[in-house]
Amino acid sequence: MNSFTPQVANITWHEASVDRVARADKRGHRSAILWFTGLSGSGKSTLANAVNATLFKRGLASYVLDGDNMRHGLCKDLGFSGADREENIRRIGEVAKLFLDAGIIVLTAFISPFRADRNKVKALVEADDFLEIYCAADLNVCEVRDPKGLYAKARSGVIKEFTGISSPYEAPEAPTLKIDTGVQELSVSVSRVIRILQDRKVIPSM
Ligand code: ADX
Repeated sequence: MNSFTPQVANITWHEASVDRVARADKRGHRSAILWFTGLSGSGKSTLANAVNATLFKRGLASYVLDGDNMRHGLCKDLGFSGADREENIRRIGEVAKLFLDAGIIVLTAFISPFRADRNKVKALVEADDFLEIYCAADLNVCEVRDPKGLYAKARSGVIKEFTGISSPYEAPEAPTLKIDTGVQELSVSVSRVIRILQDRKVIPSM
């Protein structure tokens, strides 16, 4: 048994007094998980935050969960081994599911390099609740940008197991949306995400 073995004996689920449908009725929009995945420096956080700002301006309930930020708190005990990344994504998946239930559009910006881990999150919720958005900037572009100087450290061996350099990134096979965030202008990328939210009837059309 490891520390992640579920301990559910003698625990009973308590049904909530306000459900997701009631929240959606009241707020005028559905909730969903927008799962942004891609290399470090690919623009996941930038795009997620820009979409979030647009939703906020329209008075819709949304929130960004960001990899670097979550690793300062809920996930600060985790590193970058395969097992730690798996646990990182499992926790974020559970947190995102809570936001979904709370009627909030939750935008997650994590490298989430392993297909199996992303698929486990997807399986936690209904099919139309999970939108996978692949920020597909090329490794070269991310490395040239190197906003935190981490690629240089990874190349010189100072940082081990760095995604794209010394640790794998498994690209989504059938993402809801694939955006080349290496070349696409931010405003265009935002519009594409907003449009898919409208098409999927998560938010009303303007
Ligand atoms: S994930 O792989 O578990 O999904 P997460 O998105 O939480 O990663 O965190 C990635 C961020 O941590 C990167 O944007 C980068 O700033 C930082 N980081 C530090 N070390 C590494 C590493 N070895 N591999 C990838 N990112 C790292």
